[in-house]
Amino acid sequence: MVDNVAQGCYRCGTLRMVMPFHCYAVFSVSDATVIGVPFGYGICLCERRNGLTYTAPRLNTFSSISLQSPISRQINQMTIGEVSGKRTNSMTTKNRLLVYLKENKGSWVSGESLSSQMSVSRSALWKHVRSLKQEGYRIESSPKKGYLFRESPDLLFVEEIGQGLKTRWLGKGHIDYYTETDSTNIRARTLVMAGAAEGSIVIAETQTAGKGRRGRPWFSPREKGIYISVIVRPAIPPVETPKLVLLSSITIAELLRTRMCLKAEIKWPNDVLVNGKKVAGILLEVGTEMDAVDYCIVGLGLNVNIPQGSFPDDIKDSATSLLIESGKHVSRVHLVQDYLMLFEQYYERFMDGRGGDILARWKELADIVGRRITVDLSGRIYSGNVTDVDDSGALMITDTTGNTHRVFSGDVTYDS
Ligand code: BTN
Repeated sequence: MVDNVAQGCYRCGTLRMVMPFHCYAVFSVSDATVIGVPFGYGICLCERRNGLTYTAPRLNTFSSISLQSPISRQINQMTIGEVSGKRTNSMTTKNRLLVYLKENKGSWVSGESLSSQMSVSRSALWKHVRSLKQEGYRIESSPKKGYLFRESPDLLFVEEIGQGLKTRWLGKGHIDYYTETDSTNIRARTLVMAGAAEGSIVIAETQTAGKGRRGRPWFSPREKGIYISVIVRPAIPPVETPKLVLLSSITIAELLRTRMCLKAEIKWPNDVLVNGKKVAGILLEVGTEMDAVDYCIVGLGLNVNIPQGSFPDDIKDSATSLLIESGKHVSRVHLVQDYLMLFEQYYERFMDGRGGDILARWKELADIVGRRITVDLSGRIYSGNVTDVDDSGALMITDTTGNTHRVFSGDVTYDS
């Protein structure tokens, strides 16, 4: 648990500020260490309410911040423990113990050598092991032989995702993990307001207010799906941001094809389907300042181990899961790692100006060009032939009168 947290504006000394970035934060980390961020490097842990007014959030909702200054990056590596079901990446004794035990998976490690490796007493060691077992790790213990690591639970713990994550920057900095939260996109936005760097991610085992497109809820059963939001800060004009949705959907479709041999397809603009049913959706939220992109939150919901018959009535005929389609229980940790790795690669290609081939592949997987469709955009109906998907991901639809419409979002039905 976080022991104490203090924060405030160095100008007015209160938690309420009228100008952004005039405050500094002092925040606590695990083991009661308190770190202060010097003036000048500060950024408030505030939530934007309108153009100018910033208000401090409830203190207990934060256990850490990421700042975009050299000093903050250092600090970010060192923080944080756990606050009511939320965990962030840190190298606590428990984490070090876990890494060590996993490295020696299948072999007994003596308590004596472990406690000297970790520089903790035998009883402290036992408490950490007990806590890991309570979290679902399968660890055997024997007074004579010590400890034997058998298996990790399929939970999306920061340590699990971090170990073996083959990305360069995505998920390498700040990861927030929640056993339960309202929406990872909402949490990601709060992180962004605290100055989160590109590559920060938020992940949850379940969402109580998961957001789908067009104000719909996203079904988020506990430990059965992947609910993840990735923060990126691309230097692109706002009009280009829908391409990030294409990147995310193509990432998922390619992953399912290559890793699981499932014939995944894309349904414009952002649904991933298997056998005609939706297995994943993406919700992009963009923050702009003047006419530049400040941040993008790419939220992915993927139905992984949801059994047949457990979708709610309104989506039971249109939704599916990897378990249903493959007949196999799928490791969510590996899927998250693969998603982050491939998304990072596509994102870098896109940012390097090599996005053209990605769009071409997306068009193949979406198979929409040349089809007759109807798009319902909140009651505005467009029907016609799809002549192209333009560079920003918008559909070009030519109707029966010969007029061409550029449509950015909506619900598609195929007429042919
Ligand atoms: C859709 O309607 O197709 C988009 C669904 C997006 C759901 C994901 S789950 C993780 C992230 N957090 C949210 O609240 N929504 C997105």
